[in-house]
Amino acid sequence: MKTDSTMESKTDALDTSIGKPLVAADQNGQNAVEDFVDPWNVHTSSMKGVDYDKLINKFGCSAIDDSLIERFKRVAKVEEVHPLLRRGVFFSHRDLHVILDCVEKGQKFYLYTGRGPSSDAMHLGHLIPFLFTKWLQEVFDVPLIIQITDDEKYYWKSLSLEKVKEMAVENIKDIIAMDFHPDKTFIFRNLEYMGQSVGFQETLARIQKLVTVSKIRGQFGFSDSDCMGKYSFPFNQAVPSFSSAFPQIFKGKTNVPCLIPCGIDQDPYFRMTRDVAPRLKFLKPALVHSKFFPALQGANSKMSASDPNSAIFLTDTHEEIKEKINKYAYSGDRDTVKEHQEKGGDCSVDIAFQYLTYFEENDEELEKIRQNYSSGEMFSGQIKEILIKKLTRVVLDHQTKKKSITEDIVRGFMTPRQLVFDF
Ligand code: TRP
Repeated sequence: MKTDSTMESKTDALDTSIGKPLVAADQNGQNAVEDFVDPWNVHTSSMKGVDYDKLINKFGCSAIDDSLIERFKRVAKVEEVHPLLRRGVFFSHRDLHVILDCVEKGQKFYLYTGRGPSSDAMHLGHLIPFLFTKWLQEVFDVPLIIQITDDEKYYWKSLSLEKVKEMAVENIKDIIAMDFHPDKTFIFRNLEYMGQSVGFQETLARIQKLVTVSKIRGQFGFSDSDCMGKYSFPFNQAVPSFSSAFPQIFKGKTNVPCLIPCGIDQDPYFRMTRDVAPRLKFLKPALVHSKFFPALQGANSKMSASDPNSAIFLTDTHEEIKEKINKYAYSGDRDTVKEHQEKGGDCSVDIAFQYLTYFEENDEELEKIRQNYSSGEMFSGQIKEILIKKLTRVVLDHQTKKKSITEDIVRGFMTPRQLVFDF
């Protein structure tokens, strides 16, 4: 794997195969269906989930290695990095070292992330990028821009505009409930905000002039029968990567560096964005990518808002959490007690264990469970019990927070304004 904490920014590999299933030869020379990842679909046949090393090579991004994490700690002046970073959930990046260079020189940057509102209730997987982003905002004391892509969901799903708006508002409350800094965070909904902002429109026009239809087709796999909304959408997601889009926040500066925490499936959007940046004399946004949060049924199946049993939702009750985990969480136990005690449980497929790697902050606790399970002493049922307790707390705390988010608070976050930010 490349170690690139000191490497120059490299050209992003252009992946023209997005949108088409991949078929490759396996070790036996037979055709095996490879993992497939784009912003709309993720397929893997492995219970261990997507092969992320392969994905890094295919996408042309870089692994986050120990030396980069060490440098992160030095530059950010933190004793430890966030569990999601040290446990490899955020596993890949583009130009993260460039952001660290800025911080070292005392320059500020901003954070940009987003969410496509596809259901009224967000599930645990949706929290992941926001949990990490919140930590980054605190550590670096920087402004954060959150884009809600109601337009994206309107074009891709059979939902009415009214419905996507309703979901957007509900999701925004969930996001605010995660305690983002009110003076340093701007949240906007594309269909409401884009048309009001000259800065946004001008940045959009600059990008759109440089990218051809054939490029977009190649990069995103769109066909003649896809609607124009889909063709235009990638630009809307690209725009907030450039500080020129938010003159009210950045006082007209067009060169404030941007760091984007996102799921690895969002990388195609930002590959296009990074491609056009130098031609506009803008800075390429830097990225940190996360792995996918697995469905209860195992890392080879998909969490879906239309299947309530595939995920834990932020609206679930204790009873629902308990029932779903006990009934559906894929177990890494062996077939018989004897075999389990001999071989030990398989942490790499056990969903209760996998979920704890996201939500148990205490490294020693987690390590104890890992050892006891892999040695065969512990069974998945016991990990499930620990997980149910943990997630009930996470979800119920979230619900209490969310109740306190009034319409006024929402408006506050969504008002275009100057953020507290010293250059
Ligand atoms: N397309 C993303 C989704 O479907 C939403 C999004 C918009 C986003 N801008 C972003 C995600 C920037 C990460 C970073 O959820």
